Amino acid sequence: MARFTDNWLSELYSKNDIVDVVSEYTTLTERGGRYWGLCPFHSEKTPSFSVSRDKQLYYCFGCKGGGNVTNFIMKTENVTFPEAVERLAKRANMEMQEVLEDKQYKKITQKKKTIVSMNKIAAQLYYDTLHSPVGKEALSYLKRRGIDENSIKRFGLGFAPDDWSTVTDLLKKEGFKDEDIKDSGLVSVKNNNMFDTFRNRVMFPIINTFGDVIAFGGRVMDDSTPKYLNTKETAAFNKRRNLYGIDLIRKMKGIKGVVIVEGYMDVVSLSAHGVKAAVASLGTAFTRQQAMLIKRYTSDVFVAYDGDSAGQIATMKALDILSGEGLNVRVVQFADGEDPDDFIRKNELAGFAKKVKHSLTAIGYKLDVKKREFDMKTEDGREGYAIAAAKIIGSIDSPIKQERYIARIAEQTGYSEHALSQQIQGASADEKGTKKSRITSINKSRENIENVFLAFAMANPQYVVDVAHIIKIDDFSQKTHKNIFSVLYECIKRGVQPTYAELVSELETEEDTNEAARLAEIDTVASDPRGYMIDCANKMSRHVQESKRSKLLDQMQDATSEQRKKLLAEIGEIDKELRDKSGGVR
Ligand code: UTP
Ligand code: MN
Repeated sequence: MARFTDNWLSELYSKNDIVDVVSEYTTLTERGGRYWGLCPFHSEKTPSFSVSRDKQLYYCFGCKGGGNVTNFIMKTENVTFPEAVERLAKRANMEMQEVLEDKQYKKITQKKKTIVSMNKIAAQLYYDTLHSPVGKEALSYLKRRGIDENSIKRFGLGFAPDDWSTVTDLLKKEGFKDEDIKDSGLVSVKNNNMFDTFRNRVMFPIINTFGDVIAFGGRVMDDSTPKYLNTKETAAFNKRRNLYGIDLIRKMKGIKGVVIVEGYMDVVSLSAHGVKAAVASLGTAFTRQQAMLIKRYTSDVFVAYDGDSAGQIATMKALDILSGEGLNVRVVQFADGEDPDDFIRKNELAGFAKKVKHSLTAIGYKLDVKKREFDMKTEDGREGYAIAAAKIIGSIDSPIKQERYIARIAEQTGYSEHALSQQIQGASADEKGTKKSRITSINKSRENIENVFLAFAMANPQYVVDVAHIIKIDDFSQKTHKNIFSVLYECIKRGVQPTYAELVSELETEEDTNEAARLAEIDTVASDPRGYMIDCANKMSRHVQESKRSKLLDQMQDATSEQRKKLLAEIGEIDKELRDKSGGVR
């Protein structure tokens, strides 16, 4: 199949929000955390066409059609996949990428490997240089900022010498081809001349969960700009899919949560002061893929962004993304102009621990931010806030969880808890109505296990490797399910944890995309999604074995004695497997 690279498509999807695109065709109204409108594909009077911003998918409960933004364009404009992609690229002002054949695809994988090995060599050079006479100034810069030798080692920090060709020469000497060297981002080209990209900068290697150095961030040591230079996007580096510090999280056992900060320096400084589990995004806003990455290691996150207004806006966005992925989020707030690094240097680990202890829930934070919009000294201000707060509180599912906020708002605004509750019920009545009809009850019948399993696998692609040895593609009863699972598995194998929209974009038939969009509607809330998936997988594989066994028994009826022997042996094999699966109890 002809295809585009994962990185390019991922950018395409991030730049074409499905809600915005669909809105250009039909009017959408937000209700219950999703968007509803009249289906453009069949005639109807009440809206059953819904779009999820979280999942970047649409699904029509009326005509049962669904898919991602590309599928939507294909259907409304009656165009092919590459044509739809081209339209979206144009819409987002992106240059169209060449369509790749499988052969080129392999070439990219090879390129990735080459770049990673060049990065490793460069990282070693930077590290050694930091500890050589040339790196004296950089080393004292780090020490001055409270970064000790242990932390330098832990993060592999280094220094890029103030020279145009140190790295270029080394890579050439190591035998890398010019073409590959240029593609690594370590080296830049001007007028056909190659020169080191990073010069006179403190270097932060960016390492993925496989322990590969995929890119670098380099900081100047004075006030010159740009403050940080980051490796451009390469075959090995996608800044939306990785997190600074994630490799260290992976190596840690039993973490209690992860602190998400804005800067490289915040990660290193927190670690140097004892807060080891911290990560930062890579010079862009926090993404869904990054939330999924964190979810592999913990379900508790603390957003600790800078205490300025940019940090506040970024926090709001991150909160929605993180909660959307089902993570428990809390917010650690800092004074205006202060970042986690400043704070922990002043207040040490104990001060930071106190901050974490007093961190706000996502709702608490939203209320806090909202309150600042009103003048609480006036009657109008308090009323305005009470109404706005009711809307925020209405988004909480559990009435019990609502109660503590109601009490707090009552105290702050002077309105009775009763009035606030009424207000909340009014605000969330719509929401509840649509939600009920949507939630699919999880029935454990055979067919349903397969549905639920796939819904969970799509929501938690990071766990697919954990079930890969339990079920095979052929174990799925429906063709669409086979296709969905095999595409998901292929993504994981090449190191991509696809978002819903990305997964759907790999499916080849409309039948498959409709089914994937339908499955995406299944509720996937579970305290232990990984364990749940393993359970489902075991049940599915057991069903398959059992039906195979009864087929063999049927064949025994009119088999010759020679055939019987063979059949019996096969049945014995199955019985043994079934026994192993149930842990010997049978
Ligand atoms: P900050 O300016 O907050 O940097 O940018 P910092 O990490 O706290 O560094 P110090 O304390 O000033 O030394 C936050 C992040 O934004 C990205 C980097 O990822 C940085 O860590 N950034 C910032 C850039 O990519 N380029 C820039 O020029 C500035
Ligand atoms: Mn800083």
